[in-house]
Amino acid sequence: MTTLDLDFVRSQFPAFAHPDCGKWAFFENAGGSYAAKPVIDKLQHYMVAAKVQPYGPSDPSEDTGNAMDLSHARFEAALNAEPGSVMFGPSTTMNTYVLAQALREELSAGDEVIVTNQDHEANIGSWRRLSDGNSGVVVREWSANPESGRLDVADLDNLINDRTKYVFATHCSNLAGEIHDVTALVKLVHDAGARIGIDGVSYTPHGMPDLKAIGADFYYFSLYKTYGPHQGLLYVKPEILKDIPNQGHFFNAEFPDKRVTPAGPMHGEIACASGVIDYYDAVDAHHFGDDGADTAARMARVGHLFAEHEAALANRVLALLRDKNVRIIGPDTAEPHKRAATIAFKSPTVANDAIANHLRSHDVACGVSDFYAYRLIEALGMNPEEGVVRVSMVHYNSADDVDRLLTALDDVL
Ligand SMILES: Cc1ncc(COP(=O)(O)O)c(C=O)c1O
Repeated sequence: MTTLDLDFVRSQFPAFAHPDCGKWAFFENAGGSYAAKPVIDKLQHYMVAAKVQPYGPSDPSEDTGNAMDLSHARFEAALNAEPGSVMFGPSTTMNTYVLAQALREELSAGDEVIVTNQDHEANIGSWRRLSDGNSGVVVREWSANPESGRLDVADLDNLINDRTKYVFATHCSNLAGEIHDVTALVKLVHDAGARIGIDGVSYTPHGMPDLKAIGADFYYFSLYKTYGPHQGLLYVKPEILKDIPNQGHFFNAEFPDKRVTPAGPMHGEIACASGVIDYYDAVDAHHFGDDGADTAARMARVGHLFAEHEAALANRVLALLRDKNVRIIGPDTAEPHKRAATIAFKSPTVANDAIANHLRSHDVACGVSDFYAYRLIEALGMNPEEGVVRVSMVHYNSADDVDRLLTALDDVL
């Protein structure tokens, strides 16, 4: 069985060789990951050689326009998405906000929208606001279990009815780490005659989703957590996009990709984004050679390498946390493709900051926050102002990183 070659992987991330960054065992990847070398190289090229308005009549301008087009095309191929369905905006929060303005125009009094309380607020607040004023839109909540923080699909089944127009849920919780079977979720929602938007921000650092197989109407994630630049990626099904109420300049209405991304595009960030897919290709070629597999198959097998490696690391951390009797949010064991290596916990005896500071003194970086999953923390009976400790890993974390984390955690808990 092919396993992940971590030396190769880490050689693709200049951060590991940098004196400031390299000494850290980094466990706040769910907040933002290191950038892969092809992304940095492309951004450097743009900044030095092509930082001009794109799509104009000069070579540097054409260079940037082509690089931006390439990022659209490469992500569409990697996500198995239709041409013209992938857009870039400043962040996922901004993308859902604008998308909600578009959807608002087509909703009527009595229409229903379902959100969870497990999501990051970016996939809740924008949709909850659809009921503002006298819109008459009803928002229903698919609530997580107050003990485990997990969602039960049977509860969604009970909420959904013939007035439901939209359901919004996450592919993977940024606190509970649970990866949902979104293909089954999409089927359930479509069978009920509604549409579904999925937040892939916490899922996509662990692998590229196959959007054709999933079938969601909307899918969004943040490239700064997937080894890329600070951008949000928004997928909208082409048949929805072509008629969606235009949020861009009136004279651009005929361009589907401008309808829900009204801000001027961030040229350099978009131009370098294809470097994320170059990185995936390099990992695939290194492990599997050039065997002619199609893009979706290559993305899937790289994702599988990542998942196996991450689950092994996560299980070591979860085992220690179980021994220490801290409250773990979400499943307390990891399985590839079922639970991401994003582990949030709260100690009954040691304050979050004391834990984080102790880890820091060992050059181990974690996060302490509500991580904008404010409603989930409240639902679990915890205080969002205090938050939780989160240690989040991706495929480039090593067994040595985990050794250092476990030593420091064992001391402090
Ligand atoms: C699960 C999840 N969804 C959405 C967001 C918001 O993404 P952005 O910072 O691009 O607005 C985050 C950010 O942390 C997140 O973790």
